[in-house]
Amino acid sequence: MFTIAHLSDLHVGDPNDSRGRAERAVAHVCSLDPAPDLLLVTGDLADHGAAEEYAVVREVLAPWPGPLLVGTGNHDARGPFAEVLLGGPREGPLNQALEVGGSRFLMLDSLVPARDGRRIDHGELEPETLAWLDEQLAGSDLPTYVCFHHPPAPIGIAAADAIGLREPDELRAVLARHPHHAATLVGHNHVACATTFADRPMVIGGGVVSTVTLDAEQLPHIWNDAPPSLAVHLVHDDGRLTTHWRTVI
Ligand SMILES: [Fe+2]
Ligand SMILES: [Fe+2]
Repeated sequence: MFTIAHLSDLHVGDPNDSRGRAERAVAHVCSLDPAPDLLLVTGDLADHGAAEEYAVVREVLAPWPGPLLVGTGNHDARGPFAEVLLGGPREGPLNQALEVGGSRFLMLDSLVPARDGRRIDHGELEPETLAWLDEQLAGSDLPTYVCFHHPPAPIGIAAADAIGLREPDELRAVLARHPHHAATLVGHNHVACATTFADRPMVIGGGVVSTVTLDAEQLPHIWNDAPPSLAVHLVHDDGRLTTHWRTVI
């Protein structure tokens, strides 16, 4: 069995005890024994995309000793993200590939860079990213997890669905060509939930900084009092995926 710890939406810099919440989530992951094979963080690591926030993110993630894959969300900024978390400046979308324990993880950059200083909240995959994904999937038959920030399928929360991934059919068409696509692992919606996309599981890893509630629930839309949530994905020897969500007090 293979284990993936999945955090999302740390939003370091947010006033809702973002650093403390992220530290508790990372401590929980680090306490697992045996340790997970990979720690995946699917975007919104910083709240304002600031270099000083990423410096804190680096400190928060430092106790994790194993393989790590971090990707961008709509609150992130490519320049400081790459500079502080990826070891230096990079051109274009921050797409990354990682092979761990006989599986591949492709982290796509679905961030739309700010325009006129204004953050763009919906997600897009640039043609360069879709071409890179197709090439990466064609290059290996290993089971491959496609990871990014903005869910490509609606989850039934109106405000969240309005800022998901635009034009998901383009992504669906790429994935349909590659049957070893195992699952889509995303964030952004600050919820622990699962559905399907491209005939595979699509799982949101929860929300560390806050929880977004269902429209029908008599709770704040952004529920800051809910404890941080995280996902632990177990990949069984037959390739089946089981996701356990945990809240961390
Ligand atoms: Fe977020
Ligand atoms: Fe987001």
